Amino acid sequence: MKIISKNIKDYVDKEVSLKGWVYSVRRSGKIGFLTFRDGFGTLQCIVAKNDVGDENFELFKTLTQESSISIYGKVVQNERAPGGFEILVNNIKLLHLSKDYPISPKEHGADFLMNNRHLWLRSKKQHAILKIRHQIVKSIRDFFDSNDFTLVDSPIFTPNAAEGTSTLFGTEYFGKMAYLAQTGQLYGEASAMAFGRHYNFGPCFRAEKSKTRRHLTEFWMVEPEIAFCGIDEDMEWAERLLAYIVSEVIENRFAELQTLDRDVDVLKKVKAPFPRVSYTDCIDLLQKNNFDIKWGEDFGAKEDTYISEQYNCPVIVYGWPKGIKAFYMKRDPENSDLVLSMDILAPEGYGEIIGGSERETSIDLLLERIQDEGLDKKDYDWYLDLRRYGSVQHSGFGMGLERVVAWVCGISHIRETIPFARTMTRLNP
Ligand code: 4AD
Ligand code: MG
Repeated sequence: MKIISKNIKDYVDKEVSLKGWVYSVRRSGKIGFLTFRDGFGTLQCIVAKNDVGDENFELFKTLTQESSISIYGKVVQNERAPGGFEILVNNIKLLHLSKDYPISPKEHGADFLMNNRHLWLRSKKQHAILKIRHQIVKSIRDFFDSNDFTLVDSPIFTPNAAEGTSTLFGTEYFGKMAYLAQTGQLYGEASAMAFGRHYNFGPCFRAEKSKTRRHLTEFWMVEPEIAFCGIDEDMEWAERLLAYIVSEVIENRFAELQTLDRDVDVLKKVKAPFPRVSYTDCIDLLQKNNFDIKWGEDFGAKEDTYISEQYNCPVIVYGWPKGIKAFYMKRDPENSDLVLSMDILAPEGYGEIIGGSERETSIDLLLERIQDEGLDKKDYDWYLDLRRYGSVQHSGFGMGLERVVAWVCGISHIRETIPFARTMTRLNP
C-alpha cells in the first residue's frame, strides 16, 4: 500500500515516500519549508540543503505552486507542525512543473474562482467543504440504512411535473417532451408501498429563475417515504436525521469545521426534538413585526430568516395553506384551507432545508388538485394506482443536500457546497 499523508503518524522515525503537489513553498537561506498536499491532507516538509544536497536544493528552488512531486524523507513528531508531524526531506523528484497557476494565495473574486472551479477544488477551504459534504452523504445513508429504509432510485427523465410547472427543464425525447426530475417523490411513494420504508437520493433539477445564495438549478435531494406514517412521525424522522448528521460531522470532521472557522458550539445545540410552530402563528409574528405578508402567502428569504432567528436550533413550521403547496399534500381533515405539511428552517438564516408532508390518499381530492394546477391527469394515472390498490396513510420529506452542507459548514453561498455548481448564470466549467 502506498503511504498517504493521513496515515503519517504510523511512520514516526521511518523513511517514507509520498506523491502529491506543492501547496506552498518558502525559503530562508539554506532551509526551505514546503507545504505538501496529496488530496488526503497537507504535511509540513523541511528541506535543508545539507540533507538533500546542492543539486536537489536547486530543484527545490524551482518548485512552484501545484507542481506535482515525489518526496522522500523521515517522519518526525513536532508539536508545532500543523497536525503534529513533519517530514525531514532527503530527496525530491519533480513529476510535472506547474506554470502560472492562476489561483494564488491572494484574494480573488467569486466569479474568477468559480470560473476556475476545476482548480479551486484543491484549496484548503473548498477541500474541507467537500469532505464535509462527503461525510453528510455517508451519514444520510448510514441513518436510513440502519433504520430499515431501502434505497430505490427514481428516474431523472420524467413525463410530468411534480413540484409545479414553473421550474421544469424540458428536453426533446424521441419526438415527445421529457422533463428532468424536480423530485423523486412520486416514484418514492410507489417504492414505499413496495418496501415499507424507502429513500431515494439523487440529483434534482429546477429552472429556478432566482439568483439567490440558496438556489441551484441542479441540486441533490434525499427523500424518504414511509408507509403507515402520519405527519407527526414524519417530523420525528426529519429531526432525528438532522441531529444525526450534525453529530456525525462534529465527531468525524472536526478538523474541517475548524478549517472553515465554524462555530461548533452552535452546531452542538442541534438536538431533537426541534421546536414546532404553526404557519398561522408565524404570520402573526411576522405581521406584528411589520413584515408585509398576508395569510396565504409564502415566506421569502427575509421571512425564513426572521422566523429561524427566534430559535437556536432548526425549527419545524407546520400547517401550511394548501394554495402555496404541492398537489399531493394531504388536506387537513380539521381545516380544509390547510395541508398536513412541514418545512424545517435552519438557524442562522440558512432558510428551508427540508420540506415534507403527509400524502393525500383521496383520489377525488388528488384529481381536483391536479386539475387546479393545470396538469394533465393522464400523466398521473399510474400514481393514482397507489390509491387504488391497498392505499395507506403515508408521509415523506425531501432534504436539500447543498443547503444542509452550507448550514453545517457556515458558508454564505450554496455555490461552494457542490463540486460544479449549476445556476441560472453558470453552466461552466
Ligand atoms: O420543498 P421541496 O420543493 O420538496 C419536494 O420536492 C418534495 N417532493 C420533497 C418530498 O416531500 N419528498 O424541496 C425539498 C428541499 C428543500 O427544502 C430544499 O432544501 C431543497 O430541497 N431545494 C433546493 N436546494 C437547492 N436549490 C434549489 N433550487 C432547491 N429547491 C429545493
Ligand atoms: Mg419547499
